[in-house]
Amino acid sequence: MLRLERITHENLDDILSLTVRDEQKIFVADNARSITEAYIALSHGGHAFPFGVFDGETAVGFVMIGFGTDEDWTDPPEIAKNSYNIWRLMTDKKHQGKGYGKGALALALDFIRTFPCGSADVCWVSYSPENTNAKNLYRSFGFAETGDYVDGEIIAAMKL
Ligand SMILES: CC(C)(COP(=O)(O)OP(=O)(O)OC[C@H]1O[C@@H](n2cnc3c(N)ncnc32)[C@H](O)[C@@H]1OP(=O)(O)O)[C@@H](O)C(=O)NCCC(=O)NCCS
Repeated sequence: MLRLERITHENLDDILSLTVRDEQKIFVADNARSITEAYIALSHGGHAFPFGVFDGETAVGFVMIGFGTDEDWTDPPEIAKNSYNIWRLMTDKKHQGKGYGKGALALALDFIRTFPCGSADVCWVSYSPENTNAKNLYRSFGFAETGDYVDGEIIAAMKL
């Protein structure tokens, strides 16, 4: 069964070893960078929830959830204030196309709907305009593009 695991000393190496295909590396930071960014947010008054995605004992992906903004984030988009976001999502190249991305996103939304940082109306995400896989995945969950961009990426949002 698919589940999200908080990062521990025990699972860290497995999570750090996950990687996307070479041509997808422009779409997502590697997991070491994402976990470092979580540290930056957390140490500047922000929120970050990085998780390994596990199928049984096997690490298959990584997802990171954010909330609101932090003191280190210059020029956040308007939508970021007091809303949740899917900050990172990746499935390891060996495990793509098996439904893990969909499963991880469903679990991430379940977690968000526990409202760990308080109530909010919206969850948002951003992706590169060329990232058709991500666009299709988020659309199938009800995310709609807002017409706004952040760092060259399209913003899409859904009501919680
Ligand atoms: C996007 C990503 C997480 C999807 O992970 P996955 O485990 O392969 O996804 P799933 O097998 O659950 O497929 C989920 C949906 O993604 C879309 N998708 C996945 N592979 C696709 C492909 N080759 N072509 C088009 N759409 C695709 C489809 O909507 C698919 O749903 P469907 O099977 O009902 O059509 C994965 O491709 C990835 O890690 N990409 C690189 C990192 C990235 O782009 N992250 C998102 C940044 S915002």
